[in-house]
Amino acid sequence: MIAQKKGEYEIRPYRHNMNWQIQKFATCSSTNTQLKEALLSGKVQAGTVFIADEQTQGHGRLDRTWVSPKGNVALSCGCPLPKNLQKVYQLNLIAALSVLHLLKNKYGFENVFLKWPNDVWIKDKKVCGILSEVVAEADAVVVGIGVNVNSRLKDFPQDLRPLLTTLKEIINTDLDLPEFIKGLLKNFDENLKLYLKNGLSFFLPEITKDLKYFHQRVRVESEGNAAFEGKILGIDENGFLKIKTDNEIRQVISGDVTLSE
Ligand code: BTN
Repeated sequence: MIAQKKGEYEIRPYRHNMNWQIQKFATCSSTNTQLKEALLSGKVQAGTVFIADEQTQGHGRLDRTWVSPKGNVALSCGCPLPKNLQKVYQLNLIAALSVLHLLKNKYGFENVFLKWPNDVWIKDKKVCGILSEVVAEADAVVVGIGVNVNSRLKDFPQDLRPLLTTLKEIINTDLDLPEFIKGLLKNFDENLKLYLKNGLSFFLPEITKDLKYFHQRVRVESEGNAAFEGKILGIDENGFLKIKTDNEIRQVISGDVTLSE
């Protein structure tokens, strides 16, 4: 069968559903690391999802530690690699939007925001982080999704507690985790299909509507660049953040955004 092309993304694996092949682990160092290794060794292909009850060495952007106690979502989805590597950033946004849709539409949470580039926040606290890692040799990208669901703040180190929240802290009850994961993978699958058909532009109105700090003045710090401040104008069709500084409009490819004081 000849692969069809859409833009720079080969769409054959997405023509129908991803048909996720799920493998579960009680404990895992990191679902991203394990899935990357399995893809590299050829044991699994894109379409595979690794899910762990808990991770001992979960990691996030910039090699930060991701604390992953039992009761939370820790999973990694093997997706086909876009030909244009810049599009890997867009997968972060599609995954984050899939979590946001689930929290708002299925569970009725309010004040849910997409915090560029790869988080979901409820009010002023982080509840979900996404980390996409390219496995070029396996023609795949691993999209890792962590959501704080049934854990408590006391399950996290003291210094992290002011920055994050969990769904249980908000509603004071446990959610059915397998059901939550099922909904998440369904949303991600559906959004991936829409994304591949229509591109990121299709999602921009939705992303903008729920973008954390939209039209607010923020400070942007990115590796290797001087920090600067400006107002968030939105996200462009590449997935980059648009910031209006005092003299120009800047495009940010990756970085940390905090509210200006
Ligand atoms: C971040 O906030 O910087 C991203 C956090 C990503 C965490 C998830 S949990 C599942 C997968 N395995 C990991 O080690 N990281 C991702």
